[in-house]
Amino acid sequence: MNSTDNIDQLRKSLKLHRDAGKTIGLVPTMGNLHEGHLSLVQESCKHNDYTVVSIFINPMQFNPSEDLTTYPRTLDEDKEKLLSAGCDFLFIPTAHEIYPEELNSHTKVIVPGLSLMLCGKTRPGHFEGVTTIVIKLLHLVNPDIAYFGLKDYQQYLIVKKMTKDLEIDTQIVGLEIVRDTGGLALSSRNNSLSEIEIDKARQLYRSLRKVARALNQREFKFSKLEKQASREVHEAGLILDYFAICNSETLEPATPKDSNFIVLAAAYIGTVRLIDNIRMVVPHSK
Ligand code: PAF
Repeated sequence: MNSTDNIDQLRKSLKLHRDAGKTIGLVPTMGNLHEGHLSLVQESCKHNDYTVVSIFINPMQFNPSEDLTTYPRTLDEDKEKLLSAGCDFLFIPTAHEIYPEELNSHTKVIVPGLSLMLCGKTRPGHFEGVTTIVIKLLHLVNPDIAYFGLKDYQQYLIVKKMTKDLEIDTQIVGLEIVRDTGGLALSSRNNSLSEIEIDKARQLYRSLRKVARALNQREFKFSKLEKQASREVHEAGLILDYFAICNSETLEPATPKDSNFIVLAAAYIGTVRLIDNIRMVVPHSK
């Protein structure tokens, strides 16, 4: 596995592969890799001749009150995992390589609407940080396909819209959430949780599943279901940000006319932010 922290070297190296007619897959990450990330790498290896993974803890997507300095950094372990998952090239730029000048003076790409909903309400500026780094990586790597985990479903929709609106010729693929045996969605932030906290965190998925079961039975009392679930999450000791039943294409609040649903939740345990979701199609009754 080759690696570089340098943009020119990345470009030179990838040009050789592109000129040789190889297809390229990209998996953008912030490191501290787990099975969820590795499933993206493996999928990329299956469908592309050459797989590039980026590890960059992007300061632009953290707001001042968030965990940028304490975000887990585990580069040596990450490299070993990437090697065994089949990654061909690792791009690990420094913040200076990506943002040589003041962060605030850097051009930003903003996807309106979707970026201000749900997580965007609590994390102002977060999604414009994400779209700015993702578009930069897409320009640098110019991949045929880029892979994202569906745990960050809102991020996935936003990136998809950005590439469509800006005519970027990369297919955006979202892959299913990978969970531990207790149902907790894998996340780099889980490493900061104690055993007791992990136990509490599992309530998020339990409540999501309960709501999903109700929706599958066409119990469309959305507000009642959201309130019940919010209470359960609160009683388990989590600080809820939101628990929302939405249309999975628009992220607007669900209506009985919808058939594509997503139930999404975000909550804190201490300073650790957890997000999770379940998507489902409930056909209209005849
Ligand atoms: O999902 C993440 O890990 C990040 O938001 C991403 C897509 C790598 C951009 O920094």
